[in-house]
Amino acid sequence: MRELNIVVLVSGGGTNLQALIDAQKRAEIKNGKITCVISSNPDAYALVRARDNNIKTRVLNRKDYIDIAGYSQAMLAALQEEKADLAVYAGFMTILDESVCKAYENRMLNVHPSLLPSFGGKGFYGLRVHQAALERGVKLSGATVHFVNEICDGGAIIAQKAIPVEDNDTPESLQKRVMEQCEWELLPKAVSLFCEGKISVRGNKCVVEF
Ligand code: GAR
Repeated sequence: MRELNIVVLVSGGGTNLQALIDAQKRAEIKNGKITCVISSNPDAYALVRARDNNIKTRVLNRKDYIDIAGYSQAMLAALQEEKADLAVYAGFMTILDESVCKAYENRMLNVHPSLLPSFGGKGFYGLRVHQAALERGVKLSGATVHFVNEICDGGAIIAQKAIPVEDNDTPESLQKRVMEQCEWELLPKAVSLFCEGKISVRGNKCVVEF
């Protein structure tokens, strides 16, 4: 099977991108290679991480586009130019429109910092997710890797991992544990499984062959 081109979409710090790069260095991304990192934010530290690892970078600044349709069109063109087989949202904070979701149906993954469908959808991103989980008083939180479709955080779930919430957790402490213990482990694993052709989608369910 041909090695797949993985394009990673970022907006911020890029610790999930780093987890993917580290996994790639350990040869844990089977049958795929990160060929390009595209950022919606020119100042994202994720771009430094990519450059430090000799990975091609592109900036598609969300602020240069008046609406999401124009931005989505530009992103789709960039993905096609990069010959992306898989697009991975790793802390990518822009919701792309249907045109991209359709063109990349079942070929676009996102990592979300909660156990979906709880604390997902528009407005739930970054620390806000952990704040909402703590306010609701859940005893478990975690992360989800799922396919991206036209419903925000609504695509088929590929993998989830849960951890206990501690009584004295703050949004920051919970975010840190969810990243370290869930996201950085799940995302590279899911990307590798995808590249190995081990994930199939049946309706809104994923079947994963381990
Ligand atoms: C991560 O926790 C990621 O799951 C979350 O933002 C953080 C980005 O961190 N994504 C979302 O909330 C998307 N809805 P990173 O830039 O260090 O990977």
